[in-house]
Amino acid sequence: MEVIILPSPDEASRLGARIIANLIKTNAGATLGLATGRTPLRLYRELILLHEKEGLDFSRVTTFNLDEYVGFNQDHPASYHFFMVKHLFSHINISSERTHLPDGTAEDIPASCLRYEELILEAGGIDLQVLGVGTDGHIGFNEPASSLGSRTRIKTLTRQTLQDNEADFKDLNQAPRHAITMGIGTILDSRKCLLLAFGENKAEAVARTVEGPVTSLVPGSALQFHPDTVFLLDEAAASNLAYADYYREVYQGKPDWQRP
Ligand code: GLP
Repeated sequence: MEVIILPSPDEASRLGARIIANLIKTNAGATLGLATGRTPLRLYRELILLHEKEGLDFSRVTTFNLDEYVGFNQDHPASYHFFMVKHLFSHINISSERTHLPDGTAEDIPASCLRYEELILEAGGIDLQVLGVGTDGHIGFNEPASSLGSRTRIKTLTRQTLQDNEADFKDLNQAPRHAITMGIGTILDSRKCLLLAFGENKAEAVARTVEGPVTSLVPGSALQFHPDTVFLLDEAAASNLAYADYYREVYQGKPDWQRP
């Protein structure tokens, strides 16, 4: 695991965007796994800037999002589909045929989850998966006690997650109780993972994810089994890490040829 601690979310997001841009430049047909939430907003803004200013070309890129609320159609303003169009897809040259999210309105949810997994395989697997982390340590919507081998499926959201995401909904009582999410096993199959976390309210989840024991109670801790995960943190999110100084030293000593 590579833990990179930078002074601000802006700097961490710029680095994340450079890592993604380098991937797309070397593999124009790359498959990206994408995340929603407040955390990746700056990352998406940086990617849009790279597209506008440097011509970063998304025309052959394929994307798969981690998750979607059950019961929301694509045009629902709180749906993750709506979020992605608003914050990224409508600003870059990506074809809507190449962007995928789980279908929150599918009649047969298990069948549509299976199909989602098949589509990822047909696209050749995910080259790079963007992740955030919930305050309870979830990745995607894999809430505590998710199987570490899980695949795309329906999950019940915890109270804490609903409260954390309260701003997405006009009224918490109207919030969906379920979501479809890639499983931990699906995420671990990605060739590279890029987890971003910012702010003090993520510090405990980050410490448990990076340094705690691997346990389904902290689903992100399964990333300790992934051979190529980069954690991009700001100082506040890194504040509970026991080995923070060591991670800084490693990053400072990194040779130029290894830097994105
Ligand atoms: C949400 C999403 C996750 C996201 C996490 C953190 O519920 N399902 O993919 O990473 O929780 O959200 P935020 O970035 O808004 O803190």
